[in-house]
Amino acid sequence: MRLLSLSLGLSCLKYVVTTVQIPLKTAFAETDTISASDSKWTDLTARPDANGTSQFIFDNVNAMLQHWTHTRYRNGHSIIPATVPVGTLLYHGRGDTELPTHPEWTAIDPEHSFPFCGAWNGNDTSNMCWQLTLVTTRPLKVLYFDGSSAAKVVGGGTLDTQDLLVWGKVDPERRRDEWGRINALCAWGRDFGIDGFVREIMLCDFSQGVELASADNLATWWTNRTTPPFWRPPLESHPPPRSSAESLYSLDDDDPFFPAGDIFRFETVRAGSWHNHYPGETRIKLDLTGFISFYDTALTPSLVFTRQGTERWDHRLAGISPADLEAVKSRLSDVLTRGPHSVGSGVDWRTLYRVRLELLDYLLNTTTPHNANVRARQIQTQLRVMLTPYILYTSRPPPRASVDLAATGNDPWAWALPVWHGCATRHTAHIHASASLQSRLTPSERLLLRALDETNREICRVVVRIWVAGVHAGLDTLIPLEDTQIATDPLLVVEAWRPEAAALMKWLDWGVWTKCRPACEIEEICYLPTWPYFWGGQNRPDPTDDRWKRPQPRCIRQVAPYSGL
Ligand SMILES: *[C@@H]1O[C@H](CO)[C@@H](O)[C@H](O)[C@H]1NC(C)=O
Ligand SMILES: *[C@@H]1O[C@H](CO)[C@@H](O)[C@H](O)[C@H]1NC(C)=O
Ligand SMILES: *[C@@H]1O[C@H](CO)[C@@H](O)[C@H](O)[C@H]1NC(C)=O
Ligand SMILES: *[C@@H]1O[C@H](CO)[C@@H](O)[C@H](O)[C@H]1NC(C)=O
Repeated sequence: MRLLSLSLGLSCLKYVVTTVQIPLKTAFAETDTISASDSKWTDLTARPDANGTSQFIFDNVNAMLQHWTHTRYRNGHSIIPATVPVGTLLYHGRGDTELPTHPEWTAIDPEHSFPFCGAWNGNDTSNMCWQLTLVTTRPLKVLYFDGSSAAKVVGGGTLDTQDLLVWGKVDPERRRDEWGRINALCAWGRDFGIDGFVREIMLCDFSQGVELASADNLATWWTNRTTPPFWRPPLESHPPPRSSAESLYSLDDDDPFFPAGDIFRFETVRAGSWHNHYPGETRIKLDLTGFISFYDTALTPSLVFTRQGTERWDHRLAGISPADLEAVKSRLSDVLTRGPHSVGSGVDWRTLYRVRLELLDYLLNTTTPHNANVRARQIQTQLRVMLTPYILYTSRPPPRASVDLAATGNDPWAWALPVWHGCATRHTAHIHASASLQSRLTPSERLLLRALDETNREICRVVVRIWVAGVHAGLDTLIPLEDTQIATDPLLVVEAWRPEAAALMKWLDWGVWTKCRPACEIEEICYLPTWPYFWGGQNRPDPTDDRWKRPQPRCIRQVAPYSGL
């Protein structure tokens, strides 16, 4: 498995080598000649900027269209133009067979439209569950909001992006004003030819770009229902969990309209979970050359201030300055009106962003040695494997005599600086070096490049530091200690690695590391509390139970504990 992920990294490198040879030579030259005069690359102890956001942008880009990270950090920070390809099926649940004549919601998975069928959503009073299946007849031009952008969390920031865009402010009173929101979004988007918005897919005009493929009168799982189950208060007042393997089924047994209906509620969760991890929802094609981020500190500097002293869970857009909001809207307008000639650089950003994910996971969480000596050498070997493409023939500590010069100001780590530089810059050096690529980069791509560079820089800084400490301790079999040197106690080395690794992981804070431990049983799935299925919290008998604010994964049953529905 590790080798597989390594080869991923290497094949990406191969791509770079085969496609852009000249700039790569430049990169090698840089690597070879890096010197103490290049101040950016001289200090392996320099931590990243405390106000920096590159790690968040990096994670946002990696988490695009994936449910998991956006369930953890619900408040979206990105707006990205996207298309829904021809031939994509969209589902719409309602009480009759009519196509809506105004903006309405559609779902990409039928599990998410089924709960909305019935009399409450149409003019038919017979309580019929109609599912309309639509198919796109041309690519739909849509705008993607990341985060849990369809969740209407009390006191949360999940709707900030949309509300700022169309209303210029976040008004808690309008949290549930979904009709107002969809109408305003569609009215705003009309000037830009936008067909819809991706949370679920809010479709602005059902006579444009879609046609009816099928209208089916489905059997319902409930009786006498007048409102969609999602919106009723009992759902938000679940009792606290009784055991570690909680069941969504058991939480709402007293529902008179919807007996034992939690199986289908669960299925909406399961359908969401299909898109938990990479590659996520593949039916939406994002155009990252138009990526706009509220973590872009140049675009929205006022948010640097509002984020001060808050944890990532609580990052919001609500405090943005009017000037910054104008800047975002202006950038968005540019993105949506640019001509077809400005297609950007052609760089595959999502692939560049993925390179290192799996590598680190292994490395960083194996620092719990039982046998420190063996474990330390194993980790050192793994570090060397990771850094192999960047460790030059000349990358080894100078003879002991010069190391002693440390006392007189010579940096004993200096020999490793080119390894850091190579590791951190190799994947993007060709972009920096190519005048042609540079001239084609959109502002969004410049942001992506910066976030990628700064994140790689920090990952490589820590990995190289750990590796060098191991070399100096005599753990690296390819760089044996000189006779005169004394090996450091491996236990001490590993102890020193741990906080470095932990700080890096805390900084990166990738969703893929949030897992159920121990792994769930086969009849369970790993679940992050997702609106509206919270335990405790808002409007609840126990308002002090605020676990919904900091979602932690837990196993829930995925097979009903009783037969039938
Ligand atoms: C119901 O019918 C009325 C009158 O025909 C119409 O104005 C209204 O838009 C319809 N409502 C829905 C939800 O289709
Ligand atoms: C549904 O409504 C009808 C008419 O009001 C009533 O007779 C019936 O008992 C209801 N069914 C349930 C399951 O509540
Ligand atoms: C971070 O931003 C705040 C608010 O703008 C500022 O006061 C602080 O000095 C900055 N800190 C650093 C390390 O740049
Ligand atoms: C790493 O392993 C430790 C101990 O097994 C565990 O507590 C921790 O959650 C793990 N962290 C990650 C990010 O996997």
